Parts: sequence; structure tokens; C-alpha cells
Amino acid sequence: MSEETAPYGTGPAKAQQTEGAAAIKRIRTHHLREMKQRGERFAMLTAYEQYAAQTFDEAGIEVLLVGDSASNNVFGNETSLPVTVDELIPLARAVTRSVRRALVVADLPFGSYQASPEQAYLTAVRFMKEANAHAVKLEGGVEMAPQVRKLTEGGIPVMAHIGFTPQSEHNLGGYRVQGRGDAAKRVIEEARAMEEAGAFSIVMEMVPGDVAADVTASVSIPTIGIGAGAGCDGQVLVWQDAFGLRTGRMPRFVRQYADLHGVLLDAARAYAADVRAGTFPAEEHTF
Ligand code: KIV
Repeated sequence: MSEETAPYGTGPAKAQQTEGAAAIKRIRTHHLREMKQRGERFAMLTAYEQYAAQTFDEAGIEVLLVGDSASNNVFGNETSLPVTVDELIPLARAVTRSVRRALVVADLPFGSYQASPEQAYLTAVRFMKEANAHAVKLEGGVEMAPQVRKLTEGGIPVMAHIGFTPQSEHNLGGYRVQGRGDAAKRVIEEARAMEEAGAFSIVMEMVPGDVAADVTASVSIPTIGIGAGAGCDGQVLVWQDAFGLRTGRMPRFVRQYADLHGVLLDAARAYAADVRAGTFPAEEHTF
């Protein structure tokens, strides 16, 4: 008779977490807007695969972003520019399959939406159909208003991303704070243009705290800061930065909540030592 054992993975969240399923309600875009109206802040993290997504969902993170930062956090590129739609779709599919409550937003990668509203629509539809994403994110302000309008009129919720926009890093002259001094007005214009075009929320990256707070007060949709101070309605971080899987110099706006690199390093070394010493596998691991 063959022995039964657990599979190598546990499959989608639905299969794993049935307890209390009826009580769990999906976060929708209107919930974020209502939270802003009530003055409640919410949390967003990036996620690119099953177990991180499940864990963040279990922790109550309201929004998960399948960021184009997968380029430099999953695929080993130096910047977000090289990642493609075909590379991001399977990651987004894994995340949407693995959560029950979080709103899952898929990033439209560089070159997949800037050419025209039609190009943006066709790309966004792929994320909605092939990955079951709940919304998409794109970078840019006033010049992206036609894209945002086309998507929202076509039934696709859009999260805008203004301030420092990593896909334009070569145009912006590197990673720099946007909206200092006179440029503050421009950030407010960008935010208003995005709201007017139908975006349901706005990420603001590397914008001075007082400017981000002004933007937050002047739009009715939620703002989500990354390096934009505490005056935003929500905050987002790349999870490998926040939980210390990535090592090296961190941007000033990152707070590290864990040292996952250290934990994995110790675990991997302990495993290798046991294998070399012949102490793993032991009797209890042997059929
Ligand atoms: O791709 C990403 O991770 C992002 C966040 C930094 C907002 O766009």
C-alpha cells in the first residue's frame, strides 16, 4: 500500500483556507475611497508569487501590487524597464489565485501603454482576462489622461503613478525627488488630471511630504505614498525591501521590518551543513 504524503505546494488560497470564507469580503476600489473619507489609512505591498501573496492577504494588507519592480526583484534586471507583459502576466495570475481579500493591481510595463489609449486598453485587457487582475497601474500624469480615460470607460479600474516614475528614470535624470519648489504645482496638476480622467487612486513616489499632503487634500480619490511622507491615505513598499530579503543600500523611505536575507542565509547554511554531515535526512524523514 502506498503512503500518502503532502504535495510540494498547497495550491491556490481557495483550496487552502476554507475556514471563515463566508466572512471575507474582497476589497474593492470603493472601499479605499470610503476609507479615505473616514480618515482611515490602508497598506499596500508588492507581491509577485503565491506564498508572499497569501501571507500578505492573511495579514490584512488591503492592496497587492504586481509591480513592474518584478523586473529588478524577480527577474534580476537592474531597472524596471526590461520586464515584459508576457513575463508579468503569470506572476499576476499567481497572485490573484492566491488571495481572497486583497485588491490585486497589475502594473503595465514600460512600452505597453504609452503609444496610445488603444495600446493601453489592449494591454490592460490581457491583465484582466489572462491574470484576473482587479485593476491596473500606469505611470505618468497629464499626458496619460487619454489612456486612463479609455481604460476606465472600458471598465478597467486604473491606479495612477506620479512624482518619480521609475519607467522614466533616464528622462528624469535618475532617482530624484520630484515636486520641490515651483514643481509642486505640477504634481498637484498631475493628480487632478488623473482624478478627472477616472483613476481610482494615485501612487505618489518620492515627493516632498508637504506637497504630497496638499495633493491628498485636493483630490477625492486615495493617494498612496512611497517616499511621500505620512500625509497620504495609504503607503506602499516593495516587499523585499520592507522585509529585508534584498540587501545593500536602501532608499531613505524604506523601513525594514525583518531580516529575511539573514533568516534564509542561516537556514540554507544549516541545511547544507546537515547534508554534508549526513544528519539530514534522519530516520523520521525516511520512508
Ligand atoms: O513597481 C512597483 O513596485 C511600484 C511601486 C514602487 C509603487 O510601482
